[in-house]
Amino acid sequence: MSELVLEGEVRAEAGVNFALIKYWGKAPARAAHEANLPAVPSLSLTLADLGTVTRARFAPDAAEDAVWLDGERLAGEPLRRVVAVLDRIRSVAALRSPFEIRSTNSVPTAAGLASSASGMAALAGAAGRCAGLDDPARVSELARIGSGSASRSVFGGWVAWDGPAARPLHPEDHWDLAVVVAIVSRARKKIGSRAAMNLTARTSPFYAGWVQQARGTFDEGVRALAERDLEGLVAAMEASTMRMHACAMGARPPILYWQAESLAAIHRVRALREEGLMCGWTMDAGPNVKVVCEREAQGVVVEALSEIPGVQECMVCLPGPGIRVSLGRSEG
Ligand code: DP6
Repeated sequence: MSELVLEGEVRAEAGVNFALIKYWGKAPARAAHEANLPAVPSLSLTLADLGTVTRARFAPDAAEDAVWLDGERLAGEPLRRVVAVLDRIRSVAALRSPFEIRSTNSVPTAAGLASSASGMAALAGAAGRCAGLDDPARVSELARIGSGSASRSVFGGWVAWDGPAARPLHPEDHWDLAVVVAIVSRARKKIGSRAAMNLTARTSPFYAGWVQQARGTFDEGVRALAERDLEGLVAAMEASTMRMHACAMGARPPILYWQAESLAAIHRVRALREEGLMCGWTMDAGPNVKVVCEREAQGVVVEALSEIPGVQECMVCLPGPGIRVSLGRSEG
């Protein structure tokens, strides 16, 4: 624990992450601080250049927490998610003061890369540090209370998450891979990841099978990653992705994130592999397709995906660092 930051503010910057092995489903929570404990282990890559910068400071004279995202004051459910993290910080640090939080996202909403992950990680880093909480595992736990996948954005590079906090596996320079994001839709998704995974757990007959296979797929991914075995990593990633989506499709009402263009991109990736270029795809709670490949192959992958009718744009993402926290003077 560090000293409290009573003067000035704390700035934290965190990158988004995407999951190679998916988190989909929560363990039962008996208390607020047990929110978003994962039912399955996941494996992710934190990305460079896309993320959230958050400034936090105590506002002891305020009546309640005040939170701004990209200049807009939060209210309703988005505010409640932030306050859940702040409440936990106050409880752990035995404090009562409200916070003032200002965040800016650099994640284009079109990319389908979860800005909630970088947002909650930066929030936990900045507000946690105000309260003297700066141990990375503690920050990861705090971020998890806001959004499960955010626990992973506290760490850079390749990250595992299979308990209260995520843990770093390999630094960002472990492996020269790139992720090409094929954007097929900019529309807001109809059902968000939290509601979708809860509906899946409640109603999909495939959910028990999903949970039962998850550890094996995760172990496969971790091993392939350690050995820089792209074929093995792609096999584990695609199995995890397909099973997560199959499980969601089995919900009532069914959850279907795939569009015709998503499927076209998946087939294009399979064709590239048959042509001898090793790469693999994954999708999250939206229709955009993320393709993992060696960095030197990114140009070929971008070209192949860009040719697909309906692919609006391709974005190349690279591995990035973990959270960066600094103390600064308040800008008022
Ligand atoms: C499909 O972390 O957004 O992206 O914990 O309810 O906030 P909550 O869910 P969230 O779920 C992410 C699901 C996913 C897979 C993953 O990132 O592992």
